Amino acid sequence: MSELDPRVAYHKWYYDTQVWEKTHFLGVPCYKSVSDMWNYQEILSQLRPSLIVEFGTLFGGSALFFSVIGRAINPEVQVLSVDISHQRVDAKVQVDSAIHLLTRSSTDPVVATTIRQMRKSAPGKVFFIVDSDHSKAHVLAELELLRAVIEPGDYLVVEDGNVNGNPVLPGWGPGPKEAVDAYFEQYPDDYRPDLEREFKFGFTFAPSGFLVRK
Ligand SMILES: C[S@@+](CC[C@H](N)C(=O)[O-])C[C@H]1O[C@@H](n2cnc3c(N)ncnc32)[C@H](O)[C@@H]1O
Repeated sequence: MSELDPRVAYHKWYYDTQVWEKTHFLGVPCYKSVSDMWNYQEILSQLRPSLIVEFGTLFGGSALFFSVIGRAINPEVQVLSVDISHQRVDAKVQVDSAIHLLTRSSTDPVVATTIRQMRKSAPGKVFFIVDSDHSKAHVLAELELLRAVIEPGDYLVVEDGNVNGNPVLPGWGPGPKEAVDAYFEQYPDDYRPDLEREFKFGFTFAPSGFLVRK
């Protein structure tokens, strides 16, 4: 897309005004674009997962979103949200019985063990969303970890590939999109890019990041 494309201009306006840092779900900060959240709601409605796994909790607004939407679709859904610190998590999130907070780095082997255990107790499809440390090396390590637990038909979103000039924050350095590109060089047949979803709302914070496990 060219710099003159209105979708690029809107993406830059949306990101650079930091309105996403002032976005709340039921009163809890949720650092996402609202059109991405609507896209996730549509994906969840089709996928009907039994488990939602999020890397990067922060205040917990996104975990709460996944719990509320996920339970409206499947009352038995479980949400696992992983972060190196849960000190800032909102009280509403802490008391949500569907949300399990795991305080670890998302690349810790315990995360894979926990996902396997949760899959066993809640068989079905899994929706994964990667939104923690946005460096290329860390996201690549997360994708490697997920490789051992993700199954055909599961959905993976890799967020914030828009940094490093894709099209925001030029000069940020290699990030999630570059990690996805590198992953595809190594494992070209693992995922089907869901381009219809990626382009549906004109812009996304997750370019190249809507992926269906083959
Ligand atoms: C962008 S925020 C998450 C935003 C949240 N998902 C939302 O939509 O509101 C990134 C989070 O990743 C966490 N983080 C940073 N490094 C991490 C790591 N190695 N493993 C897990 N979480 C990490 C940070 O503590 C921070 O809370």
